[in-house]
Amino acid sequence: MRVLVTGGAGFIGSHLVDELLARGHEVVVLDDFSQGNEANIAHNLSNPSFRLVRGDVTDASLMESLVRDCELIYHLAAVVGVYYVLQDPLRTIRVNVLGTELVLALAQRYRRRVLVASSSEVYGKSRKSRLKETDNGVFGPPEASRWCYALSKSLDEHMALAYHRLGLEVSVVRYFNAYGPRLDPRGYGSVIARFISQALEGKPITVYGDGSQTRSFTYVADTVQGTILAATLPQALGKIFNIGNGREISILELAELVKEKAASSSPIVFVPYSEAYGPDFEEARKRCPDTSKAERILGFKAEVPLEEGLERTIRWFKERKG
Ligand SMILES: NC(=O)c1ccc[n+]([C@@H]2O[C@H](COP(=O)([O-])OP(=O)(O)OC[C@H]3O[C@@H](n4cnc5c(N)ncnc54)[C@H](O)[C@@H]3O)[C@@H](O)[C@H]2O)c1
Repeated sequence: MRVLVTGGAGFIGSHLVDELLARGHEVVVLDDFSQGNEANIAHNLSNPSFRLVRGDVTDASLMESLVRDCELIYHLAAVVGVYYVLQDPLRTIRVNVLGTELVLALAQRYRRRVLVASSSEVYGKSRKSRLKETDNGVFGPPEASRWCYALSKSLDEHMALAYHRLGLEVSVVRYFNAYGPRLDPRGYGSVIARFISQALEGKPITVYGDGSQTRSFTYVADTVQGTILAATLPQALGKIFNIGNGREISILELAELVKEKAASSSPIVFVPYSEAYGPDFEEARKRCPDTSKAERILGFKAEVPLEEGLERTIRWFKERKG
């Protein structure tokens, strides 16, 4: 099958590309490298089944030719990560909403199946301990710019379901904090990347807030498996799935675990959110998925324990540094 992966030079996208190539598919990657990294895909450049197209997902004529020439689209291109979102909220909204609308409209025109990558951010500030796909999103005011990402992804989901009503074959995945090799070591989009870099450099490990906020973390190989199942199984059509690991951990516990696994002597320090992200920043206290829908319909369950995933990720960070 010829598959198009938008955002395929990014963190999750590049792992997805490796898995699709390993399964014998032809893969075309569309990426503008605004956040993606050449090193993520360099090992595939000599593979005849792989093609890289540099370009913008909002470029209508380019996207038309790419969608027309493929059979299945994994749409992952997006502005993502609190750092980038706060830096340019307008670009976040434009790329995430207009780019997705374009992909969906073209897929509809050429009758292609699409997988849309959404996010656990669509739950916003919900305090529910196990987030189900049908739960409410609770968002802060527009003055807190971070919510533009959540709302852009929420709108993507609405558009996907609206196109499905018109006959488009589409499914949606909500990722919960994927991590693994190829995370940007600067930690712009990932608390795990930031903690590992700080731990390996012997710098203070910076926990924002009091560290009691909880998250769940999904090893990227699991994220990729869930993505492929949602993109290909007939029973996934027209549905939204949480793709995450059900283990909940506080950010302070995570800092301690990273410190231990990296054998680091870094101190753990607390930094107020206002210092990290400015005065209007709003944090979500909890973010842990109910994974029963993905288990029941896709047969998907995340398998890599956090300890093991962290060890693999820390090894990659060390090799990269070396
Ligand atoms: N990593 C996570 O834990 C996580 C969580 C929730 C949702 N997601 C979603 O998963 C997808 C992949 O995220 P990721 O973590 O791999 O992030 P990433 O930043 O590594 O990947 C996104 C890719 O999209 C590309 N891109 C951005 N704007 C573009 C544009 N206008 N045209 C073409 N390419 C463009 C970037 O260069 C990058 O390679 C995104 O849609 C993101 O919103 C990720």
